[in-house]
Amino acid sequence: MTALIVIVVTVLVVAGLAASFFAAGRRDTTKAVGKLSGETRSRDRNARKAASQELATTGGAEVEPWTPPTAMETGMARRQFLNRGIVGLLLIGPLGGLATGLIAFLWPSLSGGFGSKVTLGKLADIDANITKGNGFYYVPEGKLYVTRYPSSALPKAKTVYAPSELTAMEAGFTVLYQKCVHLGCRVPPCLTSQWFECPCHGSQYNQAGEKKGGPAPRGLDHFATAVANNVLTADTGTIILGPPIGTDTTGQEAEGPHCISGGE
Ligand code: FES
Repeated sequence: MTALIVIVVTVLVVAGLAASFFAAGRRDTTKAVGKLSGETRSRDRNARKAASQELATTGGAEVEPWTPPTAMETGMARRQFLNRGIVGLLLIGPLGGLATGLIAFLWPSLSGGFGSKVTLGKLADIDANITKGNGFYYVPEGKLYVTRYPSSALPKAKTVYAPSELTAMEAGFTVLYQKCVHLGCRVPPCLTSQWFECPCHGSQYNQAGEKKGGPAPRGLDHFATAVANNVLTADTGTIILGPPIGTDTTGQEAEGPHCISGGE
């Protein structure tokens, strides 16, 4: 897949350069056969008249001797060459930049951001960041939230969640995609209720991302996770659909007033 993207981008760049190069050549040609001045046309007419008179006098069909190209002709060829070279050089910069941007866009792992594996930090640091964020640690690079997951809920979690989600839960955390599963708004945490509450249409989720209210068709989506050397990583290229409506492994009720009223 990656190789294919690189090949396609390379072909597009080369094709663009070639098209521009030949277009420049055509523009030169058009200029070269443009309208002649009156003085030049008059000189040509006189030359043709003189030649036909000479032909009539000599009566012969002599072969015209070869004459080397004039300075004007060679100058024009040089100008064409230089024009094409300049156009080619001017196009290499922007097209190269465009190709680089396209590759970075189609190949997110190059930039190490969303769509690739994102390091969330050492377990102790993550815990400290959750405390600092009043229960929610936001990681913009991964477009995700990390919250605490209670060890007492693990037996229930094992009946609902996939092994790659359980890895983080067993380490004490839930890793949740910020996107509301209703219509895609970013769901902020509500610090008073300690839930996630979507401002768009009022969907509500507990800290584990399990649906508590509103039009959302399931819980918040998770990312596949891994722990190595006490460091938690989320693979933001692997989204795991949130748990079905009715899932409630933690039993967390709202801990204060809601930020969003309504819901259903
Ligand atoms: S997008 Fe969140 S409730 Fe509709």
